Amino acid sequence: MVMPLSVVVLAAGQGTRMKSSLPKVLHTIGGDPLLLHVVRAAQALDANDITVVYGHGGEQVQAALAKEGLNWVEQAEQLGTGHAVEQAMPLIADNHTVLLLYGDVPLITPETLNQLVAASENNSLALLTADLDDPTGYGRIVRDESNNVLCIVEQKDASTEQLAIQEINTGMLAVRSNELRQWVGRLENDNAQGEFYLTDIVGFAVNDGVNINTTSPGNVMEIEGVNNKRQLAELERAHQLRLANEYMDNGLTLRDPARFDVRGELSFGTDVEIDVNVIIEGKVTLGNRVTIGPNVVLKNITLGDDCHVHANSVIEDSTIGSACEIGPFARIRPETKLADQVKVGNFVEIKKSTIDAGSKINHLSYVGDTTMGSHVNIGAGTITCNYDGANKYQTIIGDNVFIGSDTQLIAPVTVGDGATIGAGSTITRDAAADALTLSRPEQVTKEGWKRPVKKK
Ligand code: UD1
Ligand code: CA
Repeated sequence: MVMPLSVVVLAAGQGTRMKSSLPKVLHTIGGDPLLLHVVRAAQALDANDITVVYGHGGEQVQAALAKEGLNWVEQAEQLGTGHAVEQAMPLIADNHTVLLLYGDVPLITPETLNQLVAASENNSLALLTADLDDPTGYGRIVRDESNNVLCIVEQKDASTEQLAIQEINTGMLAVRSNELRQWVGRLENDNAQGEFYLTDIVGFAVNDGVNINTTSPGNVMEIEGVNNKRQLAELERAHQLRLANEYMDNGLTLRDPARFDVRGELSFGTDVEIDVNVIIEGKVTLGNRVTIGPNVVLKNITLGDDCHVHANSVIEDSTIGSACEIGPFARIRPETKLADQVKVGNFVEIKKSTIDAGSKINHLSYVGDTTMGSHVNIGAGTITCNYDGANKYQTIIGDNVFIGSDTQLIAPVTVGDGATIGAGSTITRDAAADALTLSRPEQVTKEGWKRPVKKK
């Protein structure tokens, strides 16, 4: 019979080696807190309940994971892993499988955890163990001649022979709540560290005739913890590579998976290509045949089919139609909507604007708080002056408008369909449709004029 699953996540450790005021489990990998990665893995198993044992910075941790529907238990003093689990037991029902995880071991996968839970069937104790070339620091798995697990011995309590054992305790385990409850109540702290070691339950299991099974992770990265900034960076790369491999397996072309970062959710169509040093944040959706150039940041955007984003562009909180050309060096700010075949060229900033099909803003412009029609051509250096120092105003540009270079459109202002604005104009009043409007002083020439000469 399959029992309901209760997950307990230990997250009370101080994390002093992070040298940070942020609680350790709130440091991020792929933009999400370490603890959230662990919680997601547990959620993927359809856990009945997830209990987090917190200590240091508890309120901050609870606030950051408020949406996950977790149970919280405080461990005021960190008296050891056994003591931590004991704090959670009052919240765990009888005849549940308890799966124990660590809040600072973020890359554990649901596949590995499913195997671990399966190994605890028939009231067995299942331990997740791994063979490491360098087992230093970990508890060692001690077995008898018939390979049965006898106990776990901590590094600081181990004999010289035991220190040579390469099979280590990852700390993750699964067992029936009835046995776990009883065993954690019996733990003592008479060991080298004066802590209540959860690992001592293995000896109790042996004495009680409980079968002990072991399983191992698919990849050692899954069992690695974060104690300092170096490990955080290592696991970040491992996480990113895992995502990159998954995307490549689904057909994404990545010029260099080592120079690609996703801090959110990426979805993409067929024949999408991403060049080096691209950062994806939030929810990003790329249509078919999209290409993204080097050094591009995309945050919460949708790009239609056949769009090309060129080098060094930043696009956020915007919706882009199909066959648009953006950049190089373009910045598209929140609440922008580009229809199909729009071109946004170099050193162009667009903010909170809607731009209709086929319009072009190719060079050195600022377009903000603007509604622009289709097939508009905006000349180089055009600025929508949307702000008077106190309030923001709208600029409305009709279809088929041609705006000459170096024009200032002083909002609120409307430029009618088919209008042409002469270069260098400052447009303060509405410009009529299908007419030429320009504001420009007469050009004068002074014959015989002499350049000044330097005084002696
Ligand atoms: C523990 C295991 C060891 C295993 C190692 C894997 C015990 C006695 N030892 O070692 O066999 O190889 O993990 O990394 O269990 N925590 C609390 N409250 C506490 C103590 C710890 O919540 O009072 C949490 C920590 O935040 C961390 C996890 O438990 O997430 C493990 O604690 P840590 O001190 O790293 O483990 P060790 O005791 O070194
Ligand atoms: Ca440790």
